[in-house]
Amino acid sequence: MESTKPGIRITTDATQVDVDWLHEALSTRAYWALGRSRETVERSIEHSLCFSAFDGSQQVGFARVVTDQATFAWVCDVFVEEGHRGQGIGRRLMEAVAGDPRLAGLKRTVLATSSPGFYAPFGFAPLDKPERWMLRPGPAPTD
Ligand SMILES: CC(C)(COP(=O)(O)OP(=O)(O)OC[C@H]1O[C@@H](n2cnc3c(N)ncnc32)[C@H](O)[C@@H]1OP(=O)(O)O)[C@@H](O)C(=O)NCCC(=O)NCCS
Repeated sequence: MESTKPGIRITTDATQVDVDWLHEALSTRAYWALGRSRETVERSIEHSLCFSAFDGSQQVGFARVVTDQATFAWVCDVFVEEGHRGQGIGRRLMEAVAGDPRLAGLKRTVLATSSPGFYAPFGFAPLDKPERWMLRPGPAPTD
């Protein structure tokens, strides 16, 4: 397992999120959120648990968890800045998610991804009975 770049700081303080960086990253470089508005990004931060990675004062990673903190959580918007990938920052973010006491003991924590191998070490596996899950698409499919 690779080691994490020294000096990386993880925080769950949502007030520290660099909204300019996050909006630019998600809306232009994250395949699932292309075109997402700044208002939507701000609203999503407000109603989620936010995990941010900083290299000094520069935000270099983010993960968001939508949850009732009792039974269910949805992990999403996991993104590491291109130049900082492969240095263990994504792993640090997911370790913070997995170790957060507000998310301990939930019946279900789910996510959707094109990179299942990244999440497998944290206990994620394909849906057991995918036919039981349903989806109501919204009017803005990229959001
Ligand atoms: C996926 C992503 C978050 C990984 O972040 P990262 O900081 O580069 O990952 P790390 O350096 O912490 O890697 C941790 C481990 O995951 C592995 N890994 C990294 N990216 C992976 C991927 N796309 N698929 C499978 N495994 C991956 C690494 O090899 C490493 O394994 P190791 O611990 O055995 O050496 C980052 O590449 C990214 O932001 N990608 C674009 C957005 C994205 O795809 N997000 C997730 C989609 S839901």
